[in-house]
Amino acid sequence: MSSTVHHIRGSFDPIDRLGRPLRDLRISVMDRCNFRCPYCMPKEQFHEHYRFLKSQERLSFEEIVRLARLFVALGVRKLRLTGGEPLLRTNLADLVGDLTDIQGIEDIALTTNGVLLGQHAVDLHANGLKRVTVSLDTLDKNVFARMSGGYGALDQVLSGIDAAIAAGLTPVKINAVIERGLNDHTALDLVERFRASPVIVRFIEFMDVGNRNQWRPELVVPSRELAARVHARWPMRPIAQNYKGEVAERWRFDDGAGEVGFISSVTQPFCGACSRARLSSEGKFYTCLFATHGLDLRAPLRAGATDAEMLQLIRGVWGARTDRYSELREELRRTSPAAKKIEMNYIGG
Ligand SMILES: C[S@@+](CC[C@H](N)C(=O)[O-])C[C@H]1O[C@@H](n2cnc3c(N)ncnc32)[C@H](O)[C@@H]1O
Ligand code: SF4
Repeated sequence: MSSTVHHIRGSFDPIDRLGRPLRDLRISVMDRCNFRCPYCMPKEQFHEHYRFLKSQERLSFEEIVRLARLFVALGVRKLRLTGGEPLLRTNLADLVGDLTDIQGIEDIALTTNGVLLGQHAVDLHANGLKRVTVSLDTLDKNVFARMSGGYGALDQVLSGIDAAIAAGLTPVKINAVIERGLNDHTALDLVERFRASPVIVRFIEFMDVGNRNQWRPELVVPSRELAARVHARWPMRPIAQNYKGEVAERWRFDDGAGEVGFISSVTQPFCGACSRARLSSEGKFYTCLFATHGLDLRAPLRAGATDAEMLQLIRGVWGARTDRYSELREELRRTSPAAKKIEMNYIGG
């Protein structure tokens, strides 16, 4: 298999219609979640009778590794494991080990809600994971309960973060979704707690993902506003991106106590440099977080398609890609205030 892949790679890396290469792949390894964050999987929709995938419907580790290899052959250098909640997938560390072995991958990361991190941090690190991103929206217990849908416990997430640091999964990044009137009053507490530690807090603007999360434009706290509040307390200045296409804008504290990040998907969309593809748990290949359609890669994979055939499929989709949904949404909101929200399907991850 690898010789075919090797033969096809190289100068044939696909570029989409807007000139963007394929560099990152987010792999959802699990559609289920042990939280019900209202901005992502509200309880009303993801209730106890919700039909999640059956295990045979999810890609197996073998299938994920094969697809990852193919994506790497087309230019992917960075993998992120996500979900749902990725740590609900049994033996995830084994998958990390297999992915780490793929030649050409420069970085493997994991995004988790952190509840199970305490149990798995050492194993994940031993299998080659370098770093982890933990989603944590607040340090206030009551607000936390509201923002996780009443599942999980803040203490578990905090010990998960400690375990990640102890295991060497650093720097640990924290993703905090900020929603006006819900947790924006607790945002600075996160900065205070994690400044001068091996943890980087990154604030994410609340996104309008489909029609199930009660999104309204007035609930978005623009990064600029939040940055001004942080700056007033701990002066800071912007610093360069780590790499082209990095989604977080980085700011470093003047007093040397580290940095903080802002992900402004709503007010400053970054579609122009987006080199990210997504693979859903059931094997659909999406070219945008907001895409309504994904190409089923599981069916040809299970029907015995060769590497060359699979590569052709993936290359074809990427080559035809024109997605810039976040930018279009922002343009539409600016020009037509009535169109405050565009309904789009959220594919998770
Ligand atoms: C979908 S989760 C999957 C991984 C894992 N369950 C977690 O929460 O980290 C990945 C990231 O998407 C973010 N997210 C989900 N819904 C969002 C929304 N409506 N706006 C902004 N970020 C969102 C989460 O906060 C999390 O950091
Ligand atoms: S953001 Fe993560 S933890 Fe929250 S419901 Fe979505 S997948 Fe689960």
